[in-house]
Amino acid sequence: MAIERTLLLVKPDGVERRLIGEVISRVERKGLKILALKMLKLDREKAEEFYSVHKDKPFFNELVDFITSGPIVAMIVEGEEAVSVVRIMIGQTDGRKAQPGTIRGDYSLDIMKNIVHASDSVESFEREYKVVFSDDEIVAW
Ligand code: CMP
Repeated sequence: MAIERTLLLVKPDGVERRLIGEVISRVERKGLKILALKMLKLDREKAEEFYSVHKDKPFFNELVDFITSGPIVAMIVEGEEAVSVVRIMIGQTDGRKAQPGTIRGDYSLDIMKNIVHASDSVESFEREYKVVFSDDEIVAW
């Protein structure tokens, strides 16, 4: 087992639906540590960089439109195997297929408007967190 960090975003639909507290609460109840937390609005350039792995997908432009449509809340979360633990907590991408008890399973009926994003690997975290945080915003505790 290893202590890992992961990036968790509450997307514009999650903010609009007043689910910031619910997401943070689940992270804390699980026993994970929040090392950095902020609200921001991604511009197009940052959003395209953030989702660069999806640039050839048919939904890429719509995804960039969506993630830049309103504020998001970004957090860096740390804990034992945090990458896979948080992915399990958020559930499958498509809210209609996500298990009840997961964030998407409990709050989303859509494949794009799915409330949250979480890094799918340590390598993805290392790339993604730099789009939204600088290293001096991370508080190790
Ligand atoms: P996320 O975990 O942030 O990673 C990429 C995002 O693209 C995903 O959540 C969804 O918001 C969106 N997405 C993935 N697949 C599709 C799809 N088939 N159609 C529309 N949006 C999608």
